[in-house]
Formats: sequence, C-alpha cells, structure tokens
Amino acid sequence: MNYQELYAQTIEEYSKRTPASAKAFEDAKNYMTGGETRSIVFFNPHPLTIERGQGAYLHDLDGNKYIDFLNNYTSMIHGHANPQIMKAAHESIDKGICYGSAISEQIILAKKLCDRVPALERVRFCNSGTEAVLFALRAANAYTGKSAIIKMEGCFHGSIDLVEHSIAPELSQKDPSNPWKAYPDCLGISQNVARDIYVAPFNNADAVESILKEHGDEISTIILEPIMGQTGAIAATKEYLVRLRQLADQYKVVLLFDEIQCLRVGYHGAQGLYGVTPDLTTVGKWVGGGYPIAAFGGKKEIMDVYNPQTKDFVAQSGTFNGNKLGMAAGIVSMDLLDEEAVDYINTLAEKLQKGIQKTIEQNELPISVARQGSLMHVHFTKEVPTDYASTKGPYKNFNKVLHLMLLNRGIFIAPRGSMNISTVMTPEDIDTAIAAYEEVLTAMKPLF
Ligand SMILES: Cc1ncc(COP(=O)(O)O)c(C=O)c1O
Repeated sequence: MNYQELYAQTIEEYSKRTPASAKAFEDAKNYMTGGETRSIVFFNPHPLTIERGQGAYLHDLDGNKYIDFLNNYTSMIHGHANPQIMKAAHESIDKGICYGSAISEQIILAKKLCDRVPALERVRFCNSGTEAVLFALRAANAYTGKSAIIKMEGCFHGSIDLVEHSIAPELSQKDPSNPWKAYPDCLGISQNVARDIYVAPFNNADAVESILKEHGDEISTIILEPIMGQTGAIAATKEYLVRLRQLADQYKVVLLFDEIQCLRVGYHGAQGLYGVTPDLTTVGKWVGGGYPIAAFGGKKEIMDVYNPQTKDFVAQSGTFNGNKLGMAAGIVSMDLLDEEAVDYINTLAEKLQKGIQKTIEQNELPISVARQGSLMHVHFTKEVPTDYASTKGPYKNFNKVLHLMLLNRGIFIAPRGSMNISTVMTPEDIDTAIAAYEEVLTAMKPLF
C-alpha cells in the first residue's frame, strides 16, 4: 500500500467514526470562516468536535473516547475537570470574576511563580502567551532603549508580527546572501517589522555572536524557547545556553527564555534544569490551571519599567489581566505540580518514548522520538533533530496519516505529532498508547 492509499483508507475510517463531528463542521462553516476559530485545531477531512473532557479522556459528539495526549497544547496538565481545580474555580466564580481592582489571589500566584522560577524576581499577569511575549519584549525595549530582536529559526512565540517569523520557513526559498533574514510565517504580517528581526539557527551560538558583532547596537533582546515546542521537543544544548548568557551580558542585550511550553520539564522550569538564568521569562499554559492566563517577569530592574510609581513608566493594559478565576485555578495548578508530580509525568513520558522506540527499532523505521520531560514529538527523521532544518526529510505529510490513524484508535495527539502527559494519566493509558503506536507504525512500514 502506498501513502495515498493508506491516507484515503484512514480518512474513510475516520469519517465513518465521526459523522456528528462532520455535520458540526458543515454547520460551523456557515458562521465561522473555515468552520473553526483556532487554525491549529483544523485538519482534514474535518476536525473533531469534543463534547466533554474528564480526567485524561475526551469524548466526541459521536461518543468516541480518546486518551488525551494533547491536553490543549499542554495547558491541561492536570487533566480535564480536575476536581481540586474545579472546586477552586467554582468558589471563585461565586464571588465574581473581575473587579477592575487588585485582588489577593494575584499576590499568592505571583509569589508561587517567583519562588519557583529562578529568573522571576517580579512578574505581571496577562491573558495569553502571545501577550506575555509582547509585554516582555516591550520591557526589554524600554529598558535597553533598543528594539530589534534575535530570534531562532523554528522557535514559536505566539501571534504578534514581530515574532511570527521564521517558525517554519521554506528552506529552499531562503536567500543565501542574507543568512539572518526573517521570513514571515503567513500573509498579513507587516512587512516593516522584518527589519527589526535577525534570525539565527537554533543551537548555533556562533550565528548569534556574528549577528551581535554586526548589529549589537540595535538589538534589545535574544529570545528563544530553551526547548522548542511547536518544532518538536527539540532541546537546546547547555553549552549553547551558557554562551547565549555570556553574549547577552557582553553586548548588553536582554536574554529572554520563552518557557510558555517548556516550564513543565522541571520543577524550576527548563532554566532550572539547565542552570542558566535568563533576564526575562514568559510562562503560560498550565500556570492558569487550564484557564487563559499567562505571565512575564524577570529581573526587578527590568520589570521596573512597568512600575507606576516611577516617572515615564510603561503601561500594561488588559481588561482581564490577573482575573480572579485564572488566579484561583492557577494557585491550585501550581500546588498540584510539585516535584513528585513532575517526576511522575516525566517517567510516564519516558515509558511511552521507550515503547514507541521499540516498535521503531523492531521495524527499522526512519522515525525518532524527541522527549524532554513530559513533552514529546514523533519525527519522521532517523535521528532526533537538533534544529529546525534537521526536522526536514523525505517523509513530508506522514504525520497526517499517523495522526488520523491514532485518532481512529482513540489516541488524541497534535496533528503535527506532538504529545504531552498529564498528571491524571496512568501507566495503563501509556500501555494503550504504545499498543496503538505499534499497530499504526507497523501498518506504515511499507510506506518507507
Ligand atoms: C513557546 C510558546 N510561546 C508562546 C505561545 C503563545 O501562547 P498563546 O497561544 O497562549 O498566545 C505558545 C503557544 O503555544 C508557545 O508554545
């Protein structure tokens, strides 16, 4: 069987299992452009419509049950409708949601973040990771008096124009005469911002040094994910981060770690594991217990640009910043993710990785499994990639088949192949996923 035949057969099976989702998608298209409202949720032939989530499981409109290895792209670290988080959320809602004033819960959650994440001397809250990145970069710009950034190819930092560049560029269309050029990831991005962005390959400190030598006087920030999430659980090397720290100090630029996805890899975040402390950090996803909050923070002297008791302070607006519901849920979420819980999800992830690798080895497949803590990604490359370019290979689109075949077996992962573990999963859930992978990868073997 070739790729096209297997894909067609898989789509047919998926369509048979999910007629109610198909109908919901058709209805949705009458009112929402493209039938959805978050691009990443769409896949062909139609996205699933989930009716409810409970613990580690999702249930779709057709009554199919899935083990959730996506967890809303890492935010549901304690599973769905977690009783402790729900209790705190309900108690909070009973007293109202937002007052347009300070609330005590903000202090509690801010303290928890500052106590836990090495770089965080001060934090402020906002409502999404995108906003956290925007406000962190603004702090860096105000502090340094400069406004260009160095970002890494493959790193994702949300949806503001400045950072939505060179996340997944077409490698064959890159201009070899301009190695640091930033490529917008979609139409509609202002063409003017690219001049404020220099792009370096991930894990390449020499490239960053070359950019700083040429343009250090323009650059306010080096921004990166210490572990690339969207591009596939790809880890920075320790040497790379140590050199970025030295370069940031030498050229007086702000080092910003975006830990919105990778904070979970260790109790003190990725920065705690690496032992490299940035100047600023952004966090989000699970720190709100599944509710839409995020935070940014770092060195007191940089964050002081937002201090309203200083002259010329930078304003940070946001109707829902620090809302009571997100704070209340976040406090419980942080308490639940203690060191033991981090170990638990990392151990389950290791079990899953080993199980998938066993099938890969037995069948001699050109597939690798990247894992950092409880973040995982199946790559259709023989070796685990170390940067964006090395994620590429001849097996483009194979993750589409993998994704649908797993859905057909009740395993819910990201269409691009990423997975993460929640604290409510059991070793039996992992065994079920390993068995599904074995079946799917064995069926895919003739495609290589
Ligand atoms: C590393 C990273 N930064 C920023 C963002 C943007 O966060 P949000 O979707 O909450 O705006 C994400 C979201 O996936 C992320 O993974």
